[in-house]
Amino acid sequence: MKLVTPLAASAAVWLCASLAGASAQDLNVLCGVDEDWCATMERTFEAETGLDVSMSRRSTGEILDQIRIEKDDPRIDVWWGGTGDTHLQAAGEDLLEPYRPENAGDALPWAQNFYRLSGGTASGVYAGALGFAYNSDILEKRGIPAPSCWKDLTDPHYRGLVQVANPNSSGTAFTFLATLVQLLGEEEAFEYLAALSANIAHFTTSGAAPVKTAARGETGIGISFIHDAVTQKLAGAPLVIVAPCEGTGYEIGAVSIVKGARNLEAARRFVDFALSPEGQATGAAAGQNQIPSNARAALPPAAPDISLIRMVDYDFATFGSPDRRLRLLDRFDSEVLGNAEPLATH
Ligand code: G6P
Repeated sequence: MKLVTPLAASAAVWLCASLAGASAQDLNVLCGVDEDWCATMERTFEAETGLDVSMSRRSTGEILDQIRIEKDDPRIDVWWGGTGDTHLQAAGEDLLEPYRPENAGDALPWAQNFYRLSGGTASGVYAGALGFAYNSDILEKRGIPAPSCWKDLTDPHYRGLVQVANPNSSGTAFTFLATLVQLLGEEEAFEYLAALSANIAHFTTSGAAPVKTAARGETGIGISFIHDAVTQKLAGAPLVIVAPCEGTGYEIGAVSIVKGARNLEAARRFVDFALSPEGQATGAAAGQNQIPSNARAALPPAAPDISLIRMVDYDFATFGSPDRRLRLLDRFDSEVLGNAEPLATH
């Protein structure tokens, strides 16, 4: 009889796992926050628990699409970060697993409200307001005025100089779209977007890309969350950050467990950690500037004071509904992407 050597045995196990498409990881996470925060969180959680985590960064709409596709055979255990209205859309499609985190009682009122809206499937991790930032060197060099309102961004002065993401992939850009609908009404919002698209050279995939591009001087104005612009400014970029005069919307970034998650216990541990003061501190450690949802967590020193920003009373229930999302994205595709020239999506 032929003996199986330990090496051959472990190779066979590896082969079986690969053929089955199973992951050797203890926990599979899709991460919707900035890459630096994803990496810091992965390292910190692994050190804390000894678990082996696979974490990749994707934009929020891409995560929703992946979870939809894998509905009958989920590969992802946890969806951490990214805009909460998209988590609510997943909840509305029955893609999430209910879970009450151990530190739910420490959540600030807006996070408690968000948890209730999700039917107990998604928890608020952070909040942040939408806005834009311009590169003062670029605007000064071209001798063009500084914008202070959403309506200014459609001015022909800024032709080719404005960037925002595509709301199909980006939760930031979906927040922008939903914010405009809440500020202006749906018809006027699409008229505004059609006018704005004349100034946009590229719709990016990720929501923070526009302020990163503006920070590098590759575009003049980036529409993103204000906290993402703060991170770039602190790194030395010549950005001026604007809370638009008409008012603006905001996100509640969220965490949820995917329905049918293979590693349910590890997923619950991750959610508990992500909502603890220690887990929330990984944001500031990675240079991020959102407002944490745990009342006992420390506020990053440079986090924007959202009480000073004129804010719409953002309707998460309406804009978190799958039907509303689909309808707005269809209109965006046909009336904004379909009609504007010159346009490209990256
Ligand atoms: C950045 C922000 C997060 C936000 C996320 C959305 O990482 O810092 O607060 O939730 O973008 O990403 P997306 O690419 O979907 O717009």
